[in-house]
Amino acid sequence: MAKANKTGKTKLHPTKNPISENVRGSMVELLQTHLATAVDITYQTKQAHWNVKGMNFIAVHELFDDLHEVVEDYVDKIAERLTALGGQAHGTVQASVENTILDPYPLELVKSEDHLKRLADSYAKWSKAAQEGLEEAGEAGDDLTEDLLTEVARGLDKSIYFLESHFQA
Ligand SMILES: [Fe+2]
Repeated sequence: MAKANKTGKTKLHPTKNPISENVRGSMVELLQTHLATAVDITYQTKQAHWNVKGMNFIAVHELFDDLHEVVEDYVDKIAERLTALGGQAHGTVQASVENTILDPYPLELVKSEDHLKRLADSYAKWSKAAQEGLEEAGEAGDDLTEDLLTEVARGLDKSIYFLESHFQA
């Protein structure tokens, strides 16, 4: 992950937050990527919720809304950790397009199995990045960002389990 504050790109608001400015800059940069990805995955999940069709329609339609609620909570938690560190949250859809780690979600998907598998891909990609991010935060000495990304990764893994259980048998 980029340590943009070393290049002077990440400007921070003044704060009495006890973490050093250098580490805060790195963590803000790290969290900016996760914020963008969180915004992206909330709408990927809603895209599936709105368009899915099949014999198990109501079950997956409702599951996708439950998963959406989980990731929407992460959008807020990541943005507010980032601002607590003195950062400026880049939380718009346009900023998300620039910074997300996810591939664009196909607009034409209909069948429930296709949505389940495609969402599992996105959740797994973000989970991997979140696990790398929590290690980076731990090594930098920011235990609270490490804890947040641990919560995110654990929640994503649970959602992957909910998605994959439809086609593992
Ligand atoms: Fe709905």
